[in-house]
Amino acid sequence: MPLTITICNGKGGAGKTTLSVLLATAFNHAGHAAALLDRDPQATASRWLNETGDVPVAPADGSGDHRLLIIDTPPRLDSHLLHDALSQSHIAIIVTSPSPADLWSSQDTVATVRQHLPAGGHARLLFNQVQARTVLARGVDNLAARIGLPALKTRIGRRQTFQHAPLLGWSALDAVSREELLQAALEIASLAPPPPASS
Ligand SMILES: Nc1ncnc2c1ncn2[C@@H]1O[C@H](COP(=O)(O)OP(=O)(O)OP(=O)(O)O)[C@@H](O)[C@H]1O
Ligand SMILES: [Mg+2]
Repeated sequence: MPLTITICNGKGGAGKTTLSVLLATAFNHAGHAAALLDRDPQATASRWLNETGDVPVAPADGSGDHRLLIIDTPPRLDSHLLHDALSQSHIAIIVTSPSPADLWSSQDTVATVRQHLPAGGHARLLFNQVQARTVLARGVDNLAARIGLPALKTRIGRRQTFQHAPLLGWSALDAVSREELLQAALEIASLAPPPPASS
């Protein structure tokens, strides 16, 4: 069974699809064969990957010879598509901006993750669209502590190249963004390593 990672947040526009696709690409670059399962009816990740071909899109049952499966989910906490994704996952990554309002609204997502992620699963916050040297960037650790869920040490910056990626793919990204994504992928893999290639 592949290591399965659900990317979620009940709030729209947090960066779920962007980071689902780009983390899957980063995992491939790190040598883990990753595929993406698009459980969002908006199908943005599928369209993106049809354009760029950076990562295989898994069929609805998630089958295939990948060792790592990333699931993009809709921005609705009451969606059975989100609940199903969580219940088949080893890891849940809640993508949020560092703004206090967004983080507070992520608290409901944390509760949903705790309800559906199987026992022994790992859940982490991932800060996205962080602007370096701002008050918010400096305060994220305090905010995360108040949510009561650990955050990945790696944060993803806010950069325009992320907005070019759906058309141009991984090659559109600047070197700093690629490095952040690779670091985040390695941190996630260290929570629960993907199965070896022979299994
Ligand atoms: N790190 C980033 N830097 C700059 N722009 C970003 C970053 N991450 C995401 N974006 C932009 O934010 C917007 C929303 O991103 P995305 O579609 O990935 O969010 P989402 O959570 O999947 O939205 P939805 O809830 O509608 O599915 C997009 O225009 C995307 O390009
Ligand atoms: Mg999306």
